[in-house]
Amino acid sequence: MIPYISTLSLLLPIVIANSAPAPYLQIPAPRQLAWHQHEYYAFVHFGPNTFTDEEWGRSQSTPDVFKPTALDTDQWAKGFADAGMAGMILTAKHHDGMALWDTKTTTYKIGNGQWAKDRVAAGLSADVVRLAAASAVKYGIKFGIYLSPWDIHRDPAMPKPNLTGTIYDEPQIFGDNSTGNYNDLYARQLTELVTLRYDNGSSIPLFELWLDGASGSDTVQTFDWENFRDIIRENQPEAVMWGHQGVDARWVGNEDGFTVPTNWHTISRTQDQTHYAGDELQTGVRDGLYWTPAEADARIRDGWFWHASEKPKSADKLMQMYMECVGRSVNLLLDVPPDITGQIPQQDLETLLQFKKQRETFLNRPLLIPDLNVSASNVREGDSASFGPANVLDGNANTYWAMNDNQTTGFLEIHLDGPHSIDAIILQENIALGQRIGGYLVDAGVKGAYKRIVNGTSMGYKRIWNLTSAVEADSIRLQILQSNATPLISSVQALGVKK
Ligand SMILES: *[C@@H]1O[C@H](CO)[C@@H](O)[C@H](O)[C@H]1NC(C)=O
Ligand SMILES: *[C@@H]1O[C@H](CO)[C@@H](O)[C@H](O)[C@H]1NC(C)=O
Ligand SMILES: *[C@@H]1O[C@H](CO)[C@@H](O)[C@H](O)[C@H]1NC(C)=O
Ligand SMILES: *[C@@H]1O[C@H](CO)[C@@H](O)[C@H](O)[C@H]1NC(C)=O
Ligand SMILES: *[C@@H]1O[C@H](CO)[C@@H](O)[C@H](O)[C@H]1NC(C)=O
Ligand SMILES: *[C@@H]1O[C@H](CO)[C@@H](O)[C@H](O)[C@H]1NC(C)=O
Ligand SMILES: *[C@@H]1O[C@H](CO)[C@@H](O)[C@H](O)[C@H]1NC(C)=O
Repeated sequence: MIPYISTLSLLLPIVIANSAPAPYLQIPAPRQLAWHQHEYYAFVHFGPNTFTDEEWGRSQSTPDVFKPTALDTDQWAKGFADAGMAGMILTAKHHDGMALWDTKTTTYKIGNGQWAKDRVAAGLSADVVRLAAASAVKYGIKFGIYLSPWDIHRDPAMPKPNLTGTIYDEPQIFGDNSTGNYNDLYARQLTELVTLRYDNGSSIPLFELWLDGASGSDTVQTFDWENFRDIIRENQPEAVMWGHQGVDARWVGNEDGFTVPTNWHTISRTQDQTHYAGDELQTGVRDGLYWTPAEADARIRDGWFWHASEKPKSADKLMQMYMECVGRSVNLLLDVPPDITGQIPQQDLETLLQFKKQRETFLNRPLLIPDLNVSASNVREGDSASFGPANVLDGNANTYWAMNDNQTTGFLEIHLDGPHSIDAIILQENIALGQRIGGYLVDAGVKGAYKRIVNGTSMGYKRIWNLTSAVEADSIRLQILQSNATPLISSVQALGVKK
């Protein structure tokens, strides 16, 4: 008895000494943690608007309008994969209400158009959503779906004289005052989409569901967001639910590929509370009640849908968006629409590749390698093996430098072997245990004399600091000035060249 007890009491302090910090307030769900790491992916707006040169079609065209001359979803997926994008999100139904998949919920679907009938007669699939999903997995990128809650096709406030008397003249059930249940229709459409299968019968995994908040009519429709969320959770537990009303990810408050330098992954409203203004969506709320990080939806051209009159933005502009979104801990969802052939224009793919080259030329110059000497003001319980500052150089997102719980300020210093020219710094907080840090500095040291190069506030998943000019350094020091709980740093990197 006695040896057994004393063994236990000897073991106990060791267990405590190796204990990881407790989570701080809200933490990301596993699906959100994976989503942060996607960083940059494509939005694909495709549908009747592509062929009518509209952004918000009024549901006046029959499905015959949808007739791509050379549809090739492999071309989309390969193009996005080659461009270093992590996935794509396709408009399965935009505001006009026409479905791009073979739905049982409406006659207003491309499957009823001549293009689809010809495809099927030739033994080819005409289900663009399933085709795109198969292409995505083939080229190793994620797949997500946009399903517009506002549906002009069902909205009594939107007259559709061209469809009167056709099989597309369907009950006007959108709106709280209408007779009919739009929430039920939407739930059935969502259910079909979250249970889609590949040809071999395996279910198609979705990484994100985009439930747009936009509406251009006065019809008031109270959406059953909780039911929609439950449908997603039950069938696609790994999928992030995006929306003004969403719980997993929020709109960044603009569509320009930009966010403010100080912004937080948390906010404090539920899906049932009134909308935040754009500014609050950008900044989030520090120590907010929900982990609801921002995603910036932006466009390679002016419109969301393809228009012959428009051109892609420059690679420089896309690089700027990247720095002001991904470089500020916000995911970048870049719209790259197919044209009337059903392919992404070559010009846009070339721009994406130029942008990728710029990104890689900039990022692929890491100077901080695992072998370097790192020191820190403090290490959690003196346990350098588990929580030492060398963890910030090991390339492992799950390890981090930590101090004791009662220490919220401190520094780490990385000693380079000789002088280097440094022009950018990349910092990552270990967000798996919450967002904690609210103030930090980075200094470049030369023989023990320091020059301030970064003065930051929020850190979060990833911060990229591009310096206005290169500095010389033989060491890099990160000081944490303010943190609401002991700070946890998973990565520090400096970009530049050895002198
Ligand atoms: C709808 O009908 C009007 C009048 O016939 C016609 O001018 C218009 O082109 C039609 N719109 C579409 C999208 O077919
Ligand atoms: C079915 O196809 C998908 C997509 O190619 C693939 O990921 C999955 O492993 C396949 N499932 C089976 C059971 O072969
Ligand atoms: C429903 O209709 C009534 C009577 O026309 C109107 O006063 C009310 O504002 C409408 N409500 C909504 C939510 O549209
Ligand atoms: C690491 O650098 C510190 C500060 O210059 C120095 O005191 C320490 O001896 C170095 N450690 C190693 C293993 O080189
Ligand atoms: C801080 O925490 C450490 C480890 O738990 C403990 O040893 C130390 O006494 C604490 N210091 C203060 C000032 O409370
Ligand atoms: C960091 O920048 C803020 C805001 O400009 C400023 O108030 C603060 O003094 C700066 N801190 C340091 C240590 O330079
Ligand atoms: C970084 O800043 C420099 C100097 O302002 C600028 O020339 C360069 O284009 C910037 N790089 C990136 C990737 O933003």
